[in-house]
Amino acid sequence: MILLTHSVFVVAVTGTFAQHVWPVPYKRFDYRPKTDPYCQARYTFCPTGYPDGQIPAMKDEDTIEVFKLQAPVWEFKYGDLLGHFKIMHDAIGFRSILTGKNYTAEWYELFQLGNCTFPHLRPGIEAPFWCNQGAACFFEGIDDVHWKQNGTLAMVTTITGSLFNQMAKWMKEDNDTGIYYETWTVQSTPEVNTTIWFESYDCSKYVQRTFRKLADLGAVFTKTLQTNYTRIFLYSGEPLYVGNETVVFGPGENKTAATEIRNFYSPFRTPWSVREFLINLLSIYDEVVLRKEFYLFYNFEYWLLPMKYPYIKITYEEIPLP
Ligand SMILES: *[C@@H]1O[C@H](CO)[C@@H](O)[C@H](O)[C@H]1NC(C)=O
Ligand SMILES: *[C@@H]1O[C@H](CO)[C@@H](O)[C@H](O)[C@H]1NC(C)=O
Ligand SMILES: *[C@@H]1O[C@H](CO)[C@@H](O)[C@H](O)[C@H]1NC(C)=O
Ligand SMILES: *[C@@H]1O[C@H](CO)[C@@H](O)[C@H](O)[C@H]1NC(C)=O
Ligand SMILES: *[C@@H]1O[C@H](CO)[C@@H](O)[C@H](O)[C@H]1NC(C)=O
Ligand SMILES: *[C@@H]1O[C@H](CO)[C@@H](O)[C@H](O)[C@H]1NC(C)=O
Ligand SMILES: *[C@@H]1O[C@H](CO)[C@@H](O)[C@H](O)[C@H]1NC(C)=O
Ligand SMILES: *[C@@H]1O[C@H](CO)[C@@H](O)[C@H](O)[C@H]1NC(C)=O
Repeated sequence: MILLTHSVFVVAVTGTFAQHVWPVPYKRFDYRPKTDPYCQARYTFCPTGYPDGQIPAMKDEDTIEVFKLQAPVWEFKYGDLLGHFKIMHDAIGFRSILTGKNYTAEWYELFQLGNCTFPHLRPGIEAPFWCNQGAACFFEGIDDVHWKQNGTLAMVTTITGSLFNQMAKWMKEDNDTGIYYETWTVQSTPEVNTTIWFESYDCSKYVQRTFRKLADLGAVFTKTLQTNYTRIFLYSGEPLYVGNETVVFGPGENKTAATEIRNFYSPFRTPWSVREFLINLLSIYDEVVLRKEFYLFYNFEYWLLPMKYPYIKITYEEIPLP
């Protein structure tokens, strides 16, 4: 019943049953806009990064070792109720043989994970407000103990300095055009070859994207290392396009979708910690099971997901090296 009403609404808005490309491509932007002052980071983004996100140039004839880095998000080291989720953070390490210097590259949220997953409902502002930017951070040093002790620090390939410099150029472009974080992977079922509606865009995707780029540039990867990543899934039938913020929350529009989107997000306080984030996830689970719907914000547009069993899942599964 609810779904039918929504279909009617969608038709009214777009005037057509649009044929969508699945998964919906993650939108690239021309440049990264300034963040809104309302968004306040709890931890400074990239405190030891180079000014302006520079990446130091390597000598063309240098040999650079490339490492896959992975460690549990710190709050999960403590074995409470939530400890059994394998929530990992991923990054890439580089070591120059000529200089002996090493570096870490990672991509993460400017305003912490909770702010990328749940919006703020601000008094006097109708549209939910998102502090969902994510970006790359490149800094000198690899914290061996951090990665090794409960995670992974493993060499995956060696490249030339020249190839590194090409990758660095791509990293800058990637950073300027891929500006927002997306927590969820949305697909039809948990099966391997199922239809994927939306891909996440997070730290692990950054590592996979960079490895892919290195492979395209000619790097050859070790085949022996099993590389697993954390993924946070939603399961749904074919998503229905609702509209962008202007259409849903702009003047003169039918307020039904606007109200439903606000109602959907209202139970979730924007979490301050990863622990609160998971508690929110559990309450999202309850709400989603009850209502069988979820409003996804992707490419700064809203979609209605007709949710289905098993609704939400966190996995730690293999995505092989290229
Ligand atoms: C607004 O949309 C709802 C369905 O989403 C529909 O039932 C209702 O008739 C619409 N109202 C107007 C004034 O168009
Ligand atoms: C999330 O955003 C709010 C509003 O900008 C901010 O107060 C808060 O510090 C952010 N959360 C964290 C964990 O930084
Ligand atoms: C990526 O963009 C962020 C936000 O503007 C910036 O702080 C960071 O230095 C950039 N990183 C790289 C590697 O370009
Ligand atoms: C990175 O450099 C630091 C400082 O020289 C060193 O302690 C660490 O072992 C190096 N790690 C790797 C993986 O090269
Ligand atoms: C690794 O896990 C142990 C046990 O949970 C913990 O005491 C230690 O601090 C962790 N090490 C790092 C570097 O996070
Ligand atoms: C998934 O699709 C690939 C390529 O079409 C195929 O090789 C593989 O066997 C399929 N896996 C399953 C579990 O169906
Ligand atoms: C929102 O969607 C409308 C209708 O499709 C479009 O005209 C408008 O340019 C979009 N606004 C933004 C900010 O993308
Ligand atoms: C890694 O992923 C594979 C296949 O997806 C799975 O069989 C394996 O148990 C995972 N490893 C860990 C440590 O969870």
